[in-house]
Amino acid sequence: MIKTVKTVDLKDKRVIMRVDFNVPMKDAVVQDDTRIVAAIPTIKYILAQGAKSLTLMSHLGDPVKDAEKAKSKAEKDGKTFNFDTYIKGKHRMAPIAAYLQKKLGKAATVVFAGEDGCYNKKAFINSQKPGTVVMLENTRFHKEETAKDPKDLDKLAKALAEYGDVFVNDAFGTAHRDHASTASIAKFVPVSVAGFLMEKEVNYLEPIVTSPVKPLVAIIGGAKVSSKIAVLESLLKNASALVIGGGMAYTFLKAQGKKVGKSLVEDDQIGTAKKILEAAKKAAVEIVLPVDHVGAEKFDAAAKPVAVAAVNIPDKLMGMDVGPKTLVLYKKVLSTAKTIVWNGPVGVFEFDAFARGTEEIAKLVAAATSNGVITVVGGGDSVAAVNKFKLASKMSHVSTGGGASLELLEGKKLPGIEVTRSRDYYIAGNWKMHMTRPEAANLAKALVKSLKAGKHKYLAAPSFTALETVGQILKGSNIQLGAQNCAAEEQGAHTGEVSVLQLKDLGVHTIILGHSERRHVYKEDDALVNKKVKLALKHGFEVILCIGETLEEREKGKVEAVCKRQTEKGLDGVSAGELSRVVIAYEPVWAIGTGKTATPADAQAAHKFVRELIEKLYGSQAAKQIVIQYGGSVKPENAAQLMAMEDIDGALVGGASLKAETFVPIAKFN
Ligand code: 13P
Repeated sequence: MIKTVKTVDLKDKRVIMRVDFNVPMKDAVVQDDTRIVAAIPTIKYILAQGAKSLTLMSHLGDPVKDAEKAKSKAEKDGKTFNFDTYIKGKHRMAPIAAYLQKKLGKAATVVFAGEDGCYNKKAFINSQKPGTVVMLENTRFHKEETAKDPKDLDKLAKALAEYGDVFVNDAFGTAHRDHASTASIAKFVPVSVAGFLMEKEVNYLEPIVTSPVKPLVAIIGGAKVSSKIAVLESLLKNASALVIGGGMAYTFLKAQGKKVGKSLVEDDQIGTAKKILEAAKKAAVEIVLPVDHVGAEKFDAAAKPVAVAAVNIPDKLMGMDVGPKTLVLYKKVLSTAKTIVWNGPVGVFEFDAFARGTEEIAKLVAAATSNGVITVVGGGDSVAAVNKFKLASKMSHVSTGGGASLELLEGKKLPGIEVTRSRDYYIAGNWKMHMTRPEAANLAKALVKSLKAGKHKYLAAPSFTALETVGQILKGSNIQLGAQNCAAEEQGAHTGEVSVLQLKDLGVHTIILGHSERRHVYKEDDALVNKKVKLALKHGFEVILCIGETLEEREKGKVEAVCKRQTEKGLDGVSAGELSRVVIAYEPVWAIGTGKTATPADAQAAHKFVRELIEKLYGSQAAKQIVIQYGGSVKPENAAQLMAMEDIDGALVGGASLKAETFVPIAKFN
């Protein structure tokens, strides 16, 4: 879950807020204020809470790169180029501050912190009257903002962090960038939260990939297959139909052996298109491609539209829009949806003669919204299209982010969002070698029913034999399916072992590895556990890595040494990206199944040690985010006390997970 500005007390706090005021500018005049207007509710809320100061930061274009381009163009055209005039008209934040003042009116005074950049502004900010909004200069005047080296990023991030006790990120449009002002800053402020715009964007876009209201129909258009492969693959998981339109449709049609004339085609993507068609067939996802077209002899606003009544396009024409028969198909498939996501136009809508297909889609999506369908429009061009047809207000949500919305739909984690995420409590049941299939099925059914409204993250890990049965029952619920182990090899002559490929086939989401019973009874050492961890991560699983000391080790004062060795060796070779799919379970061996629970303070000490170790290995952001479960005689009576400790983020439950009466109260602890 992301934490929002509503979860923190802002009274007398200094707030540093990242906004995305990267709006089109011409001669220092704002051309489209959508993004500025979208941040105002958060700004007003912060002021209304009595914040001591509110400092805004944003980028506006990229002064260095843009100026280089403009200069070489001017030189080519034989014109003079003046850097200062150019920058003033396009990249300085002063006109934006003035524009914001106009929009806020009497609600607040907006002051611009000066053209000399973002460093050393603490005194200036502190000298303002409460309720003043300070706008910093364009963050991208500093090369550290977009630097690759974390040291450079941190230099600017630390300076910006000086201006706030709370970091509010409302810059959804830049959330996919791992920059100083969007992500690194979170390392140096005590609290990082999302603004209302960010919250709304995430609430509409994220469920499309994780748990959409089904059926989901996706409309993906735009010029190039290459830029949409990842999103198509991601949508195949949840969509019942994919409408593929725009320039990229011709590559798909060519892949199907159709004639595409002079249409835009990426020949090097034909193989990819074939693969996507194949995958859709396997996943029973309907693919809707154009069956007729509006063509033209050349790519020109003034070109004469020619109707092409069949799927094949004559040699001398290029496809510019879809035809009327295709529109009938669109209407039919969109009428089946409960959620529609639209990214990319289906024709050259910028030219009026070829705008009909995209306009019809916009109208159909708008009509669906009024029938209660959730409709989400993302991506620069489709947003421009709904604006052009004046239908933006008729959609459930129109995203303010192009690249960011696309990456979220691809299922990626965006740095600017991740820094605002709170650790979700995660309660897992390890059923060990208990229960036959009917018994496991009964328990699974009871859990699905009782935990439907549960607020935390849940996992049930039955024995291998019950995975299929339990998996069927958990499907579509908020409980994930876990396995208790896997082999260290993908396949082959390994009698008695179960491979990751077989677990994937059964729909397993998470694998518990290095459990103390595996380590101590079945003699798995750190190297073997590590091999399994890497293999499971390579195959896309989440992993619960178990660590913990024996009684003898505890008595010898070796708790930290054991946790350190098992964590370091278990994670050897695991990348920072992969770590986001790792949960650590601290399970002191002497507390497992013995009725002896570690005291909350003892458990907290070990958890804190492990979190600090993760910080050393992967940095502070990873340490803030990693979930560390406690395991060992967790019961309804002690769950809330344990979970109240700062570094205990959940539980891995054995004995008490075998009955709904004992697991449900743990899973629903408050
Ligand atoms: P108990 O909850 O039975 O102590 O078991 C803990 C455990 O080993 C979970 O993996």
